Amino acid sequence: QNAWKLADHPKLPKGKTIAMVVLDGWGEAKPDQYNCIHVAHTPTMDSFKTTAPEKWRLIKAHGTAVGLPSEDDMGNSEVGHNALGAGRIFAQGAKLVDLALASGKIYDGEGFKYIKECFDNGILHLIGLLSDGGVHSRLDQLQLLLKGAVENGAKRIRVHILTDGRDVLDGSSIGFVETLEKDLSDLREKGIDAQIASGGGRMYVTMDRYENDWDVVKRGWDAQVLGEAPYKFRNAVEAVKKLREEPKANDQYLPPFVIVDESGNPVGTIKDGDAVVTFNFRADRMIMLAKALEYEDFDKFDRVRVPKIHYAGMLQYDGELKLPSHYLVSPPEIDRTSGEYLVHNGIRTFACSETVKFGHVTFFWNGNRSGYFNQEMEEYVEIPSDIGITFNVQPKMKAIEIAEKARDAILSGKFDQVRVNLPNGDMVGHTGDIEATVMACKVADDAVKMIIDAIEQVGGIFVITADHGNAEDMVKRDKSGKPLLDKNGSLQILTSHTLQPVPIAIGGPGLAPGARFRNDVPTGGLANVAATVMNLHGFEAPSDYEPTLIEVVNN
Ligand code: 3PG
Ligand code: CO
Repeated sequence: QNAWKLADHPKLPKGKTIAMVVLDGWGEAKPDQYNCIHVAHTPTMDSFKTTAPEKWRLIKAHGTAVGLPSEDDMGNSEVGHNALGAGRIFAQGAKLVDLALASGKIYDGEGFKYIKECFDNGILHLIGLLSDGGVHSRLDQLQLLLKGAVENGAKRIRVHILTDGRDVLDGSSIGFVETLEKDLSDLREKGIDAQIASGGGRMYVTMDRYENDWDVVKRGWDAQVLGEAPYKFRNAVEAVKKLREEPKANDQYLPPFVIVDESGNPVGTIKDGDAVVTFNFRADRMIMLAKALEYEDFDKFDRVRVPKIHYAGMLQYDGELKLPSHYLVSPPEIDRTSGEYLVHNGIRTFACSETVKFGHVTFFWNGNRSGYFNQEMEEYVEIPSDIGITFNVQPKMKAIEIAEKARDAILSGKFDQVRVNLPNGDMVGHTGDIEATVMACKVADDAVKMIIDAIEQVGGIFVITADHGNAEDMVKRDKSGKPLLDKNGSLQILTSHTLQPVPIAIGGPGLAPGARFRNDVPTGGLANVAATVMNLHGFEAPSDYEPTLIEVVNN
């Protein structure tokens, strides 16, 4: 108990209601026509920067500042919210898998040994996102895993691919499939029976999250396990090329397909005695499939046939559920998060977003842990997301509903911290629809206004920040920043996140006079926010947390 006790902050009082707002996918970039935040009418967010510059700054949200392998890695919501909530920088899944593959330790672990037990009589199935995005998975890791599996005795391998277009350019999937096909054909030359067995676009097949739409996982199950899909092809390159010819087709939403042999039979259904590895390291969009593969009791859809397999995740995706129970690499141990500390120190917490981002401000915020720390002190509210649409047709999403919930929670006086994620900039930004993203940014700004108005009424404090960039840049650029054109002369639309820093603003009537950003943490990043928020609640942060961003000057 005592280990959780935080010291009182020498200068900042307790008892202020704090709104902690995360604008998803809201970075800072040069103003131009492809910066949707700049183009959009965003008076509230603009005002922080212009009216109180000592209470506004930029913080790093990508690369090593959030535990990713290199400075070329764009930020993402998993590592972003982990850093925001945990207050320290942990080497993240991407990095841990790199290390385990490089040292070969991955093959000595319990998870791989468990998988290997099937190599003599069964097939090894690898399921995951096929790109070099580095957000959920990486192609080079899949390549190393294939090589290592073969060296360790795998003789029959089937890969079930999910095309990306969201963490990488739309249209890039063909190249990734060609690369994988080449690797598999090299393996075949060495006598290994290795093929792609099924596929589909990540947002339509398999990679749903937070139980938003189980049909997505079912479509994957049908193709991967049962060998059933609306499209059948003899090889995957042909499949992706053909399916992309449909008007409006894009990598994120390709329909499911299976690869069949000359007699039309699927080449790689998942059967009793097979091994399955889901090779994504990131949890959110693999948990649902992991449940379908692992749980005996399962009622989310009719699995028809439940093969007896040895299943391992690249990582364990949920430390609380211990899911999956077998995994190749141990996940980062994100302990002692700010949420857990604050609950132990009497801070009553409310967290809310809509389904597609709900786990970001709960599960990721709390160090990849599902559920409450203390149900009496916390309330987490999920607003159901619209399903079956791409958010460019509904750029408002549930931002106003989220803001209303936050407002009510603030005005209720029942909570000390009210934390929300506003998804619009990110979710609409990922569609690549510039006009809709401009609308999305405006709505997010409106939602921020509602929340700070409520904070105004209760004399509270607001902290407004973001988890990574997205909407502030919608085109791929050359080194000098000029938009790049493809070979047909059209703009290359950037659906992915960016390397940009994000803003953070503090304010509100409850903010102590003299509280402002200090100048001596110029390289501050998302991990510095937790100590900052603890201070604003009237506490000192634990000594191993990244330093606070604020100081209190007497004036
Ligand atoms: C996704 O999963 O939607 C993207 O790959 C990353 O987006 P997020 O990190 O903002 O969730
Ligand atoms: Co995103």
